[in-house]
Amino acid sequence: MMNELLFRTARNVAQEVFGNRIYKRGLIEFSSYCKNDCYYCGIRRSNQSADRYRLTKDQILSCCESGYRLGFRTFVLQGGEDPYYSDERMLPIVSEIREKYPDCAITLSLGERSYESYKRLFEAGANRYLLRHEAADPNLYRKLHPEKMSLENREECLWNLKDIGYQVGTGFMVGVPGQTEEALQEDIAFIRKLCPEMIGIGPYINHKDTPLAGEKNGTLEQTLKLLAIFRIMFPHALIPATTALGTIHPRGREMGIMAGANVVMPNLSPVDVRKKYLLYDNKICTGEEAAECQHCLQRRMESIGYQLVEDRGDYHV
Ligand code: 5AD
Ligand code: FES
Repeated sequence: MMNELLFRTARNVAQEVFGNRIYKRGLIEFSSYCKNDCYYCGIRRSNQSADRYRLTKDQILSCCESGYRLGFRTFVLQGGEDPYYSDERMLPIVSEIREKYPDCAITLSLGERSYESYKRLFEAGANRYLLRHEAADPNLYRKLHPEKMSLENREECLWNLKDIGYQVGTGFMVGVPGQTEEALQEDIAFIRKLCPEMIGIGPYINHKDTPLAGEKNGTLEQTLKLLAIFRIMFPHALIPATTALGTIHPRGREMGIMAGANVVMPNLSPVDVRKKYLLYDNKICTGEEAAECQHCLQRRMESIGYQLVEDRGDYHV
């Protein structure tokens, strides 16, 4: 394969820090409601065909319970930007997970909120926050989002999260329509400046009910190349082989690990809601139980000489 030297270098950098250990994060997609209308996303507000759902606190807790039994020590609560999950509703969820699982990391991925809200959630026990910047080039950012959203606000959220003390993850989609070489350089420059603990990148994949339907998907090759570059830039970063990567190629996640990724994020959401959290078409793992994904990924990692570990997998130098 092309770029084999780059991939091998990145893989060696990752192995020097992490050995053959791969961290797993249990993803709980707790709401498919979203007030935003990003042009690329399948759960955007204007998509009338999207089936919407919200998980209750008890449902979320039971996802954590089965996840814990499967050896997960990080729970990722991800949802659309859903005003229903105000601080009033969100704080008790975070506090209860914190209380029940003192040995686990809690990662939130709830989009843009105020400084005060981020701070309260942190104080309730959240440790990490994922918020992809999506596009550091202002022109591209504008092409992908309606007027209501701004790159400025998004970047400010990321700095706020850092300031509060979260381990922060950012990232973007590779090959999103309109992404030029220069725009990618902006993404790299922004990430260099932010120095995030986690870097999430995956290929852009069309969703049939969005304004970008019919555009080209991002490629495996370009995603792997960027992933490798970020690994070499940030030897200690937590970099997932994303579900999107596994969606554009049957062995995409394995190839991601071979290009320097060190994290996988299997889904812990209840099976009956999985087909409703579709950010893009043909998403994998929407019919499987948590335990099935866990075993599937375990086999996949072993097939390339790696092992899934039971560990919080915190960032450390
Ligand atoms: N293809 C790939 N990734 C997508 N995301 C949203 N829509 C798509 C798509 N069509 C990504 C965004 C978001 C993350 C949760 O999923 O980068 O931050
Ligand atoms: Fe979900 Fe393979 S990881 S089925």
